[in-house]
Parts: sequence; structure tokens; C-alpha cells
Amino acid sequence: MQTHDPSADVRTSREIARLTSALSLEEKAALTVGIDTWRTASFPRLGIPSVKTTDGPNGARGDTLDHSSVTPSVCIPSGTALGATWDTTVVEQASAVVARQAIEKGCRVLLAPTVNLHRHPLWGRNFECFSEDPVLTGKLASAYIEGVQNNDVVATIKHFVGNEVEHERNTCSSEIDERALRELYLLPFEYGVRNAHVLALMTSYNRVNGHYVPNDARLLDGILREEWGFAGFVMTDWSGIADTVEAVNAGLDLEMPAPARAYGAALVGAVRSGQLDEAQLDKIVHRILTVFDRVGALDEVPVEEHPEDREQDRAFVRRAASDGIVLLANDGLLPLETTGVGRLAIIGPNAERLAIMGGGSARVLPHYVLSPVTVLRERLGDAVEITYAPGVASDGVANEASIEAAVKSAEGADAVIIIVGTDDLWESEGYDRETLELPRNQDELVRRLLLAHPRSVVIVNSGSPVSLDWVESAAAVIQTWFGGQELANAIVDVLLGDSEPGGRLPTTLPMCLEHTPAFGNFPGESSKVRYGESLLVGYRWYETRRLPVRFPFGHGLSYTSFEIGAPSLSAPKLEPGCNLSIEVPVTNIGGRRGAEVVQLYVAPPEGGRSRPGGRFRPVKELRAFAKVWLDPGETMIVSLELNERSFAYYDVVDTDWLTLVDRMPKTVFHHGPVPASLHRSQPGWYVDSGTYELHIGRSSADISHVVNVEATGGDSPLPSSLRPL
Ligand code: BGC
Repeated sequence: MQTHDPSADVRTSREIARLTSALSLEEKAALTVGIDTWRTASFPRLGIPSVKTTDGPNGARGDTLDHSSVTPSVCIPSGTALGATWDTTVVEQASAVVARQAIEKGCRVLLAPTVNLHRHPLWGRNFECFSEDPVLTGKLASAYIEGVQNNDVVATIKHFVGNEVEHERNTCSSEIDERALRELYLLPFEYGVRNAHVLALMTSYNRVNGHYVPNDARLLDGILREEWGFAGFVMTDWSGIADTVEAVNAGLDLEMPAPARAYGAALVGAVRSGQLDEAQLDKIVHRILTVFDRVGALDEVPVEEHPEDREQDRAFVRRAASDGIVLLANDGLLPLETTGVGRLAIIGPNAERLAIMGGGSARVLPHYVLSPVTVLRERLGDAVEITYAPGVASDGVANEASIEAAVKSAEGADAVIIIVGTDDLWESEGYDRETLELPRNQDELVRRLLLAHPRSVVIVNSGSPVSLDWVESAAAVIQTWFGGQELANAIVDVLLGDSEPGGRLPTTLPMCLEHTPAFGNFPGESSKVRYGESLLVGYRWYETRRLPVRFPFGHGLSYTSFEIGAPSLSAPKLEPGCNLSIEVPVTNIGGRRGAEVVQLYVAPPEGGRSRPGGRFRPVKELRAFAKVWLDPGETMIVSLELNERSFAYYDVVDTDWLTLVDRMPKTVFHHGPVPASLHRSQPGWYVDSGTYELHIGRSSADISHVVNVEATGGDSPLPSSLRPL
């Protein structure tokens, strides 16, 4: 296989321009569309090869969606499992594995990462995305992009933007107010573009405030390119809607896949009829070729797909899976003591048919899949008698499946492990889930087993939140997510104490659907999805509204314990133009090695309550975090960094105000002059002066220290060059 020599220089802009001008109008237009489902056009006379794309994000599938002929791939943990690691290093290493697999499949463009937010727990594609929080998502997405692009593959951040429902996803309009758009939904993309320099971006299927994104010049040319300096190319989602002239003017570069509808021959027509200038097409081609060249794709001899199943990938993926496993509850039952266990009863459909990934375009064909039953049998050998009962019927599980039989098999067992969950049919692309309940009566199975055998371990194998209404009666509960091809090994590692359950919740586990932020506004109606909760997504909602949750954002137990010491600040005040460093000592005060995630939330002055002249703020927001691994007795100083963006909110232009005030009799303003901050004429990120609180702890609800910081704001927006940290 011949791949790109990373030491080779990329072509200069002038060389790319020369290549562009050597193409005819028809050829240039042909480069703006796919020639089939995954590839772009080739021009052998100029040495421009066809470039192949592949999904993403939890593996590089390669050429086909048809599982009978697809080449196997390493399947890394899915989005929520990676989100739960809270570990940028692990995410970067995981995406590097995927990038190397992409190259082995002859692909130079990976259609990942997916950075939409967990707005509602029933969205079908939650499993593919990292978190409900834009900062956690943004930082992990940046790490993912770096892992891909450092391995000479183009990362494609998707789906830009407001793609948080599957129901009627090609036609619905996500109705999002400007503050929520900027502070939540655009933020992960801003991280990916400004901090990780992502080379490609995929637009979403849905409309945003009435407009299809490929046609939206404000979003593409305005925010993405002008404000954030995006230098890559923009492509449609597969068969997403675009209109020829509007999309070119907005900044769309590539329409995928074939057959072309808006671009290709239609662009030739638009140039010939004078609706578009050929120079606009040149810019598009220039952008596409520049990106291909950056990863060496222009100098590559195409390779045939071939699978690579490496020992080091298996080992890494296994560790990454346990790093994302969240220990939700444990009264001391875990790690499981197997000495003295004569019979172990394993119950539940997912114990035999483990869900390692979700459905839809993220699916890959893994090299192999193991089940926890098999792995436990291998690991415990003849010393322990293992019995298995599915409890409920499911595809591929032996048909004596009944709750009664399962309860009976638990009777007299020395230990009981229940493994329940969803799978890639319940959590998939193209449709949403209908309920938080576990499918196929599994909640009833768990309730009945916990009555008969309260000291059971319950393992939940789902990609997104499920109801867990039996959780109070369980001695130990583990959330595994869809942890990739090594998940069975990782589960057993955690159960037996060979691995730490390293995960923390990247998304709140709610008490019930009725409490969730988007309840009533999901999946939308009359072609509109109203983001009525605005800024209050995830923990921002539950905390600001003081609603109880099943398990809070950031929660996760360890097999050891930690002390988070008093933080020290680099300065008592956040001075304009400066950063603030917070050093936090963390000590492992338990008896074994383990991981702690230190989380820093910023709370605005006066708790963010609406007041005249002020802006509504969530009670606190995650702004920094760090994960540390410590031996017993070891202390490490964690350093967290904030800048002015960590304290800022986005203010919109109040265009109506000046016009309206002119029409008012002057006598109306008898309370004195109106402060400038009440109606701004310049949009942007603003910091209000006042006392902010830094909440430092181990989850959004478990705060060890609160420290005050003064910030001086102003009537001007922060410089647009200031990136989120
Ligand atoms: C998905 C994208 C995916 C594309 C290609 C679409 O249905 O929304 O995420 O990359 O298909 O498979």
C-alpha cells in the first residue's frame, strides 16, 4: 500500500490554483458531486485521484452499508461511551485507530465526529454523540479531530446544526433562538473549527429557523467562514436538500452522494446562464483540492479495502471501554468477590447478545463480538458454575425465555448478574425511541429479580438514558453504553475489579420523561421542532428548575475514594484580556488505583436570575474539567484554565429598540436613562461585571468547593478573536 509521506510539502495555494484552472468548467462542476455513494471524481490527466469517504464515528466501515459484503473494522466505543471517559487523550487515541482503519480501506475522508447535543433522551442518535453539554462535547470533539487529522485523514464535523431529532429529519425546522444557538448548539462546532482546525463539515438534513443549512449564507459564509475562519470544505449530508445558486452563494462545496441534484451539471447550467460566476466555482474547487492535498490524498495510489485486526487495537479499545463504564451505584458489592461463589446466575438478553454499537450509518462489521456469558465462563473457569437465563425473548436468544424461569435460576445462586439494555434496532438513525422503558418487559424482569435476589448486580447496556425506576432496590448498578467490540471483556474487567469503572455521566439520567427539558417540544409538530427550553438543556434545566434527577450529570463512582483539596487561583479577579488558572489538589485516599474527574462549573452573579437590564443565565455551566489517575496515597495538582469566554453570554442585537424608542413620547422614560446593556446594538459575547462563583467538584450535584471570582465586564463585546477554551 502506498500512503502519503507526511514529510512531503503540501502544495501552495498558487499550485492549487494552477490545478484548478487546468480543469474545464464541466470538470470543475464534476468535482463538486459524488460519482457514487462514497467517492469524488478523478481526473487522471492532471493526477487528481478519486477520494473515498467513509462513516464514522465508531469505526471506519469503508465502501458499503450492506453488511453481507462489508470489510470488517475495529469497532471503538460509541459517542456516549467516549463522552463518559471525560478524557481527551483516550478520545484522541480512539479516533486515531479509526483513522488508520480508514486508510486501510482506501479512505481519506472520515464522516465523523457527530457533535449534536443530547437535547432529548429519546433521540435515536444520542448514542452517536458525546454529551448534553457543549463544552464537554467541544473539547472531546477537538481531541477526536486531532486524532484523525494527525493520521492524514480529513475529519468531518457533523451535522451542522440543530440535528437533534430523527422524526421527519429531512423536512423539519429546528426553531432555535440565537442565544441557544450560539451558547449551546454551535459551540461544539466552534471548538472543532477554531481549536482543532477541522478540514470538513457536514450540513444537517433539517432546516434551521426555516432555512436548509446548505442554502444558509449566514451560517456558512458568515459564522463558519468569516467569524471562525473555517478553511475546509462544506458537504451536504447524504441526499440533503440544497438549491444550486443559493447553496453556492451560501458556501456549500460538495453535494453527496451521486446522483447529483443541485451541483454537477446544474452548476454548469447556472454559470452558462449567468446566474453564477465561474470564479465562484473556482473557489469551491480550490477549497476541495486544498483539503485533499493537506492529507496527501492527491498523491495517493488508491488501495483495495483490507481488514486489519491488531492486538494493540484490541487492547486499547478494551481499556477505552472500561474508561467509559459508569458505576452508578454500589453498596460495596463490587468489585465482585468470586471466592466462595459456587454458582453464578447470569440473567438478561444482553448478557448473550451484547449491544456494542448503535444502528444506522454508524454501524460497522466488527472483527468479532464476544458476550459477557462467554467471557465470564472463560475467566472463571471450572471454579464457578455459571447458569444463564435470558429472562425475556429477543432475537438470537434461546426461546425458554421467561421471567419465571429467570427468577428460578437466580434462586439459590451465590451471585446474580443481570444484563439488560437496548440494541442497534432500538437506538438507531432514521427514527427515535418512543419510551424510556427498557424494551421487551426488561424493567419488569429486573424488578422481579431484585425482589427475589436484592444483592444482584444490574448492568445496563444502552447508548442513552433509560428509566431505571428500580434503581433504589439494586445493590450495584453499572451503565456500559455501547462500548465497542471489547465491551464484554471490559464489563468483566470492571465486575471482577481488574479495571476501574472510569466513566462519569456525560448526560443526565432523568427521573421521568415529563421532567426532561424538551418535553412537549419533541419530536415536534407541523414540521417545526421548537427549542422551547432554550438555554436550559440537560443539567442546566434540572438545576435551574430545581428538579430531581435519577443520576446527575458528571456522576460516577470509583472503586477507591478521592479528596478534592482547596483550589488556588492565579488571581482573585478576571482581568479583561487575561486568563485565570485554578489549581486543585486531588488525593487518592482509598486503597487502590483509580480515576477522578475534577469538574469546574461557573455560576453567574446573583444565580443568573432575570432582572431588569440583566440576562437570564443557567445557574451554572461546565467550563473546564480534568481526569487524573492516582495510586493510593498519591496527590496530583490539576490545573484548570478559564478565559473571558468562560464567563460570557451571547447577546443579540436589539434592532427593534432604536426604532421603537424614537416613536415614544420622551416623557415615558421618567426613570432616567436606559443602561446600554439593556438593548445592545452590537451582537457578540459579553461579560457582566460582578461576583461569579466557581463550583469545583465531582459532578454537577456534588460540589466540594465554591470560590468567588470578580469579573469586570463592559459595554463592548469580547474581541471576536477570543476562542472558547
Ligand atoms: C447520516 C450521516 C452519514 C451519511 C453517510 C446519513 O444518513 O446522517 O451521518 O455520514 O448518511 O452514511
